[in-house]
Amino acid sequence: MSSDFANIRAHYRDPSEIFDVKDLVSKDPIKQFDEWFQLARKNPGIKEPNAMCLSTATREGKPSSRMVLLKDFTDAGFSFFTNYASRKGEELAQNPQASLCFYWDVMSRQIRIDGKVVKIEREKSHEYFSKRPLKSRISAYISDQSKVIKDKQYLIDLQQQAMREFEPTQTVPTPENWGGYLLLPEEIEFWQGNDIRLHDRLRFRKLKEGEQLGEFAIQAENGWIIERLVP
Ligand SMILES: Cc1cc2nc3c(=O)[nH]c(=O)nc-3n(C[C@H](O)[C@H](O)[C@H](O)COP(=O)(O)O)c2cc1C
Repeated sequence: MSSDFANIRAHYRDPSEIFDVKDLVSKDPIKQFDEWFQLARKNPGIKEPNAMCLSTATREGKPSSRMVLLKDFTDAGFSFFTNYASRKGEELAQNPQASLCFYWDVMSRQIRIDGKVVKIEREKSHEYFSKRPLKSRISAYISDQSKVIKDKQYLIDLQQQAMREFEPTQTVPTPENWGGYLLLPEEIEFWQGNDIRLHDRLRFRKLKEGEQLGEFAIQAENGWIIERLVP
């Protein structure tokens, strides 16, 4: 067995185990997310644990999805950075509802997070932008993300021109259209696969105004409830 494979095995959860409410490390879904996310980060079989699928939709509800990187998460929400004028940015401007989905194959785990999305403060975007490597800042600076262009050479020329301009000072202005979004979670669902094909789904959500706690719902922390869903 190669040492890589042994490492992956060491971080692999027994797939026949059941994931139940008693197995949650916390009845606060952000803390539960942290637990699974840290395990994914330590797992050598997962190259980009922070890669997540972001789904947005137009005003009419026509959906689109793409991968983005989770930058941070706190009790307030989950943040990622992008171009505000991109397709996703335009869709979020029309319809601020979005869904995030993580899938960690070797752990047989999926987490879905749905909620409303808001732009983060300009100052915070600027602070993060200025810490990024020069090449990443230049790429963001020249990128009219999601627009149609003639050919690749057009971008190479723009990149070289920007390199000549910014390399001496290493200072690139934060593009007007570049910045962060924060998804404010309304539902967080933890999915655990197992080899008996009765996969586990535990969903945290907030009760709607005036809604009573349902027969099978469990009161959790910080206004959340937990429900088990059919896989
Ligand atoms: C693993 C991975 C991570 C990515 N991370 C980001 C990201 O953090 N921000 C971003 O704008 N694009 C990211 N991209 C590129 C997007 O998937 C997408 O191509 C781009 O944002 C344009 O999407 P849109 O035209 O739907 O707006 C990433 C792609 C991959 C495969």
